[in-house]
Amino acid sequence: MYLVTGAGGQLGRALAEEFAADGAVALARSDWDVELPPPAGLGQPDVVLHAAAWTNVDGAEDDPQGAAAVNVGGTANVAALGAPLAYYSTDYVFDGGKGEPYVESDGPNPQSAYGRTKLHGEAAAGERAWVVRSSWLFGPTGTNFVRTMLRLGEERDEVAVVADQRGSPTYVGHLAAATRQVLQLPHGVYHVAADGDATWADFAEAIFEEAGLGTRVRRITTAELGRPAPRPAYSVLRSEKGAPTLPHWREGLRETIAAIRAGAARE
Ligand SMILES: NC(=O)c1ccc[n+]([C@@H]2O[C@H](COP(=O)([O-])OP(=O)(O)OC[C@H]3O[C@@H](n4cnc5c(N)ncnc54)[C@H](OP(=O)(O)O)[C@@H]3O)[C@@H](O)[C@H]2O)c1
Repeated sequence: MYLVTGAGGQLGRALAEEFAADGAVALARSDWDVELPPPAGLGQPDVVLHAAAWTNVDGAEDDPQGAAAVNVGGTANVAALGAPLAYYSTDYVFDGGKGEPYVESDGPNPQSAYGRTKLHGEAAAGERAWVVRSSWLFGPTGTNFVRTMLRLGEERDEVAVVADQRGSPTYVGHLAAATRQVLQLPHGVYHVAADGDATWADFAEAIFEEAGLGTRVRRITTAELGRPAPRPAYSVLRSEKGAPTLPHWREGLRETIAAIRAGAARE
């Protein structure tokens, strides 16, 4: 049995969908708060897809212990089930100074509390784990950049977006599908992010273009935005270990916008 944690989140939902036909048990936070021991009667999973996490990057600066309780303590609780597990980690474990794609053998050096807790969580996942590092996740549900830009784009003529951070925006549906291939590989760290790269400003322009909105993007710097948590200036992830390659982020963007429209049409 596959067990998905964090099934209410954007990746957790995509994993629950991807593995539904395999009879996956998908637990949202209300079913299992991973800071606590597993719920009674859970049974023994064969594989855990651990997507539950504290993902509020700026909020973690104010409450690093709270973030660690979920990302490290929660991961230890999940690993204590004794099943092999896929732990989803982040490009924010890197400092962004390399200026070319990060591969698995590059040394992490997180600059934010969130990045530090995710790196410690990698260790807490244990030895029978696939540590799947990805970046800039988006999909049709939850809180993500695409949904935020679509909302702002409807409301405003112009949106200010950071143009000095470069990464690979990754569609959760592509990451969920690629997880199947990762599970065939030996345990270890894998970089699994979309093909192509972009700045947040490039990504916003593509979102407005694909959505048919005329909203302009005003390019600003990270310093101008002034967020509490530092972010890597460059965090494109690539694999030197044969991790699955994903489609280009623009394809994921098109699928996401189509899924949002299909959802809106059903409502
Ligand atoms: N988002 C990104 O850009 C990004 C990039 C790289 C890697 N990742 C990693 O990918 C994974 C999935 O991220 P995501 O984007 O899908 O995040 P998300 O949409 O925020 O989903 C995370 C889920 O975890 C739940 N959660 C939080 N604390 C919990 C707890 N104590 N017990 C159980 N569930 C809890 C959240 O519930 P509530 O909503 O109720 O808090 C939420 O449903 C995470 O490990 C994240 O670190 C994300």
